[in-house]
Amino acid sequence: MKEETKKYTEANRKAWNEAMPKHRKVMNEKWDKMLSDSEFIFQKDEELEELNEIEIKKKRIAHLSCNNGFELMSLKRMGAGRCVGFDISDKAIKDAKTRAEKFNIDCEFIRTDVFDISEKYFNSFDLVYITVGTLVWIPDLKGYFQKAAQLLVENGILFVYEHHPFANVLPYDNEIEDHLRVIHNYFNDEIYVGKGGIDYYENTTYDSSPAYEFSYTISDLINAIIENGFYLTLFNEYEKDIALVYEYLEKSDLELPLSYILTAKKIVE
Ligand SMILES: C[S@@+](CC[C@H](N)C(=O)[O-])C[C@H]1O[C@@H](n2cnc3c(N)ncnc32)[C@H](O)[C@@H]1O
Repeated sequence: MKEETKKYTEANRKAWNEAMPKHRKVMNEKWDKMLSDSEFIFQKDEELEELNEIEIKKKRIAHLSCNNGFELMSLKRMGAGRCVGFDISDKAIKDAKTRAEKFNIDCEFIRTDVFDISEKYFNSFDLVYITVGTLVWIPDLKGYFQKAAQLLVENGILFVYEHHPFANVLPYDNEIEDHLRVIHNYFNDEIYVGKGGIDYYENTTYDSSPAYEFSYTISDLINAIIENGFYLTLFNEYEKDIALVYEYLEKSDLELPLSYILTAKKIVE
């Protein structure tokens, strides 16, 4: 891994470790309640529709940046094969392991920077799964998708469900009163350094170690994927605000792209 990349991902590890107890405090009971229902499925609407299209039953799944493993445990319950979640945060992985054990869900959780995933996992998955709020923490998208390619078997599928970068030009709910204005650049190379914490459940701020976020465009995304030997099989855009920071847009008549699903297949020449 490049020195520069490591500098940012290790800083983010610290910031995510500080965030996890706050998330846990608000959400722990709710998560436990959801998982105590063995029929509960976390994935909904368009995501579930596309996962059903792929037919995840028996598929071996690697979840990159899996946080507390909630989404992966849900896929396991839906009939997936071997499930392995990778995350850089010690506390997120600890929570994931504790909950998987508590509810007897057969998922493995590995604490690692995605850029450092061990070769022993290479060529062993049918699906690499990446979701909501992951890519913004990644300083090197091409390197990240290279890891996805290394983990997959030939014809393996990459599945990404994420915030749409177009929405970054607009203010968040809490940013300004006069919402419908373009206030940020779409083509933005600046690294955002957050010191107010990562609390998207209660939207509180707290003193946090610096957390580094990276903007990307749709062309950055697509190029990082195809440069790693994938061919695109699906790219859908949705109005749905999965970042939960554009409530005002949901109330307006404007139809803007706020989330997307991309799928791609690994080809071996
Ligand atoms: C918002 S969560 C996304 C996961 C999931 N979709 C969710 O909503 O909980 C972002 C996760 O990325 C992890 N992360 C950030 N950089 C990482 C890296 N380089 N390698 C592995 N995990 C990383 C963080 O620890 C955090 O758990």
